[in-house]
Amino acid sequence: MADLSINCAGIKSPNPFWLASAPPTNSGGQIQRAFDLGWGGAVWKTLGDQIINVNSRFWSLDYGSTRMMGLNNIELITARPWETNIREIIETKKKYPKNAVIVSMMIESKQEAWHEAVKEVNDTGCDGIELNFGCPHGMSERGMGSAVGQVPEYTKMITEWVKEVAEVPVLVKLTPNISNVAVTGRAAAAGKADGISLINTINSIMGVDLDNFAPFPASMAKARTAVIAARPSNRLRSIWSAPSRRTPTFASPFPASAASRRGRMPSSSWCSAPPACRSVPPSCITAIASSRT
Ligand SMILES: Cc1cc2nc3c(=O)[nH]c(=O)nc-3n(C[C@H](O)[C@H](O)[C@H](O)COP(=O)(O)O)c2cc1C
Repeated sequence: MADLSINCAGIKSPNPFWLASAPPTNSGGQIQRAFDLGWGGAVWKTLGDQIINVNSRFWSLDYGSTRMMGLNNIELITARPWETNIREIIETKKKYPKNAVIVSMMIESKQEAWHEAVKEVNDTGCDGIELNFGCPHGMSERGMGSAVGQVPEYTKMITEWVKEVAEVPVLVKLTPNISNVAVTGRAAAAGKADGISLINTINSIMGVDLDNFAPFPASMAKARTAVIAARPSNRLRSIWSAPSRRTPTFASPFPASAASRRGRMPSSSWCSAPPACRSVPPSCITAIASSRT
């Protein structure tokens, strides 16, 4: 079998297919099953202070003949206790030493709080840390998530705090809900991040119909939307391709191997995924944008 192994920003993985931090990575059991099916790595559902998630969702997506195959994202970080996640991370890494386990974190914006949490995560044996500076709702109102990722100075400052104590590579996951994501990408680089992850949830857009590039939910008549969307340079097309398009933007501050793309992949690259990785909907997967090093 072909060798698909990669080294992304110092994180080694048997292949470039990782599950992004989201409901499929909410527990050790889920991640271990994903590794059994062939996934190379997983970013643990974001750890932080205890929260309560609500179960209702504002919008669902139908796919072919499947009703409600996806729900939009109004979820916060993990609702499971910190200690439970830490215990399962240790267990997962012990059972799957070759797979990449990355711990996503979102902590109150205080240096001591970050130091304390990162030191505990260091001891899990994980392969990397991802800073969730992109969560667009709930957590940002409390000064975390995209409240950090939308302010380059905060992005740099907190990345520096983490790098002061982290013993594994640090990726910074950016928010697309900003006029120029390259600015916060450079701020992460200035804070000595080892790599970046693109991107967290795009506010308001549930999805894009790939046949006619109409957005969900459609706010205009569908025909009109489709015409607007069919123009090659239109905004919807740019949003759809945002993660891929933006990856090269960061080539200067980061080595080519240090950028990874979070989110659905266009069908062409999705079709080239290993069969095991095609067994789940393409939402929430990561494709490491770089080539092998
Ligand atoms: C229900 C849901 C929960 C999510 N939770 C997290 C999270 O805890 N941490 C995080 O960094 N990203 C989280 N994400 C964002 C995804 O990892 C991903 O970056 C984003 O959804 C973009 O990919 P998509 O276009 O496939 O939705 C979540 C997304 C969804 C839909």
